[in-house]
Amino acid sequence: MADVVLITGASEGIGRATAFTFARQGYRLSLAARTPETLRQTAIDLEQSLNAEVLAVPTDVTQPEQVESWVAKTLERYGRIDCLINNAGICMSGSFLQTTPEHWQQLMAVNFWGYIHTIRAVLPDMLKRKRGQIVNVGSMGGKMPLPNMSAYCASKYAVSGLTEALRLELQPQGIQVIGVHPGIVNSSFLKRALFLDELHPEAASQDALAADGSAREQMEQALQGFWVSQPEEVATAIWEAVRESKSEVVVGMARWAVGAYTLFPGWVGPILQGAPR
Ligand SMILES: NC(=O)c1ccc[n+]([C@@H]2O[C@H](COP(=O)([O-])OP(=O)(O)OC[C@H]3O[C@@H](n4cnc5c(N)ncnc54)[C@H](OP(=O)(O)O)[C@@H]3O)[C@@H](O)[C@H]2O)c1
Repeated sequence: MADVVLITGASEGIGRATAFTFARQGYRLSLAARTPETLRQTAIDLEQSLNAEVLAVPTDVTQPEQVESWVAKTLERYGRIDCLINNAGICMSGSFLQTTPEHWQQLMAVNFWGYIHTIRAVLPDMLKRKRGQIVNVGSMGGKMPLPNMSAYCASKYAVSGLTEALRLELQPQGIQVIGVHPGIVNSSFLKRALFLDELHPEAASQDALAADGSAREQMEQALQGFWVSQPEEVATAIWEAVRESKSEVVVGMARWAVGAYTLFPGWVGPILQGAPR
């Protein structure tokens, strides 16, 4: 029987591209995202274009009981879980003081706790079978700091720490934990991001606005750059990491920035301080 992969945030962007990539490799799919219409459309597209076997269950990863129900339905349908891809995430940009405790909680609930809930739900089956792969999609913002994104970076550094510690814990039990860290990706992610300077225009630095425009304008400019990846490139990196049992991958041009920061944090930090915000 073909292997089974679970993917969160599977209706759009990297998650949708990853579902197509794994379907082409013959995996049976179990897909989750909140919006039933886009999730159902992704399942239909996979079935019609690749004749893929798909279970699609509308699920909010911040709600542990919804995650448990999705995993239970997957086990009922397929009988096992070979690979979990934790991918659902949201983005937020703003200064530390613009970011309220509610914003921090909203971001951590998806980007960090969402990963905890899914791992807790799939692990008993993987441990029983002494085999499995867990891919945590992080970010270059979980490997190096990004200006005006302390909450997003904290959530993705938390994913990096979780990934590395869990890898040590689970490797002896036959379960592999992989970190995949994209740079800037041309999906709806940044367009859907919460830009806190739009909620507090009076608090945005007038000098910064005059020089660089709003954070949203800067993001739109950044998406024109040659360093931007497509969701399919990240999906391929995830598949190659799973196939080759890699521990960690930084995708695309981000690997140069992360490499430079890792080797020379004292030099790269000040450059980032001068970057547009
Ligand atoms: N795009 C980038 O520039 C970039 C860069 C570095 C890292 N990443 C990481 O890559 C991952 C995917 O990003 P993307 O660019 O593919 O984003 P995207 O295009 O915005 O897609 C996000 C997906 O996650 C789902 N989702 C959001 N909140 C959810 C929740 N609470 N429960 C379940 N599903 C949820 C969305 O569907 P619903 O809204 O219907 O739930 C959608 O399917 C994220 O972890 C992100 O941090 C992205």
